[in-house]
Amino acid sequence: MAQSKALLKALIFLISICFSSAKSNYNPNTHNPSSLHNKSLSLSFSLSSLPLSPHSTLRASLIKSSSSQRPKTQISPNSYLNYDVRSSFKYSMALIVSLPIGTPPQTQNMVLDTGSQLSWIQCNKKPDPTSFDPALSSTFSILPCNHPICKPAIPDYTLPTSCDQNRHCHYSYFYADGTYAEGNLVKEKLTFSPSQSTPPLILGCAAKSAEAEGILGMNLGRFSFPSQAKLNKFSYCVPTRQRLAKTSPTGSFYLGQNPNSNTFAYVNILTFPKSQRMPNLDPSAYTLPMVGIRMGGRKLNISAAVFRPNLGGSGQTMIDSGTEYTYLVDEAYTKIREEVLRLVGPKMRKNYVYENTLEMCFNGGDSIMIGRLLGDMVFEFEKGAEVLIEKSRILDDVGSGVHCLGIGRSETLGIPSNIIGNFHQQNLWVEFDVSNRRVGFGRADCSRS
Ligand SMILES: *[C@@H]1O[C@H](CO)[C@@H](O)[C@H](O)[C@H]1NC(C)=O
Ligand SMILES: *[C@@H]1O[C@H](CO)[C@@H](O)[C@H](O)[C@H]1NC(C)=O
Repeated sequence: MAQSKALLKALIFLISICFSSAKSNYNPNTHNPSSLHNKSLSLSFSLSSLPLSPHSTLRASLIKSSSSQRPKTQISPNSYLNYDVRSSFKYSMALIVSLPIGTPPQTQNMVLDTGSQLSWIQCNKKPDPTSFDPALSSTFSILPCNHPICKPAIPDYTLPTSCDQNRHCHYSYFYADGTYAEGNLVKEKLTFSPSQSTPPLILGCAAKSAEAEGILGMNLGRFSFPSQAKLNKFSYCVPTRQRLAKTSPTGSFYLGQNPNSNTFAYVNILTFPKSQRMPNLDPSAYTLPMVGIRMGGRKLNISAAVFRPNLGGSGQTMIDSGTEYTYLVDEAYTKIREEVLRLVGPKMRKNYVYENTLEMCFNGGDSIMIGRLLGDMVFEFEKGAEVLIEKSRILDDVGSGVHCLGIGRSETLGIPSNIIGNFHQQNLWVEFDVSNRRVGFGRADCSRS
């Protein structure tokens, strides 16, 4: 049960690779009567930060990354099981938004994921009234089998589609652990108001799944929500997490203009020519020009090159709302660990590793003092843009009286990239200005914005 979202997400990713690799000429944007491509568009939604079931986020991002970055490995259900994917995060945090889908709209909860492409809704999970009911929407349609994207693509990334008895595009996918995901590829609109809706978008429609939420795929791939809806920009503000609170604090999500954007500092998204073959690069990710890390005002001795993709594409730094913690390649991770050891080494818990990932951990009672000794942490980007993690939030309460620095080693995920996770995007506006190929940051109190 708990794994199904991750598996769905993995499946979505598999499909999305197929999309990006397929030699089809299909263009989802050729008919475009009522897209969101309007400079004055500004739609605001609330966003919550909620724990998901075990395995979800970490596992999904693991599969995402390992499959895109190890193209020589056959992407089979077995390949990801070679990694240590059992390191579940009990409180894996996901960002959830509620969006109006169909005509008339049905509100669906979706996991906001800047690290994946195809969006996904839960369909017809009767008797669950929160799932989407296609029969109630006049704009819903299922892709027929002869649709250009409903066919196996290149051999390495076979899109597991088939034709069901109604000649609808259907896929079913078995995983090595025996779980199973299936559904249709469909087209459906998002309807924000009678005059504001998207064109019909290609979505996955899960017929069988244990989870309540769908996924809103927000990366740069051509089948992501922003690409299909021709959205210029979107932004979010992640509220500070409160694990023990009964109600989760509410943040914000904008489609289009954000009224606070005059305070944002922007960095350009790094893009790479398709002709440049970089097997370890995820070309649909939001790759940022990170240049360094400071701790307690001290610039760590990390070469800016370790945050940039090398010729093979290893080392890109992506910002991902769908991954909880931050993961760094060894050259960067080692320098952070050395600094933490230097400052608070004797207080660090010996031989303790949280869920196989976080190893810089302390007794909860020491956490305020540890924060003061470490100081604020800053991720530095080009053009002076910075993400500041205040000393009071540098450690995460992982339960059982233990607090850990929210940074792990990319190698434990089996990936060669740096990922900035949602733990390090709290109390911050993050704007994805897709049309200008840049990402903006602005400090905020997200529980109030
Ligand atoms: C853009 O959106 C605004 C408000 O949402 C609306 O008033 C305006 O007519 C739209 N412009 C176009 C060209 O659709
Ligand atoms: C910085 O790191 C490099 C490589 O790890 C090392 O050779 C160099 O001596 C370091 N510089 C300082 C000032 O510590």
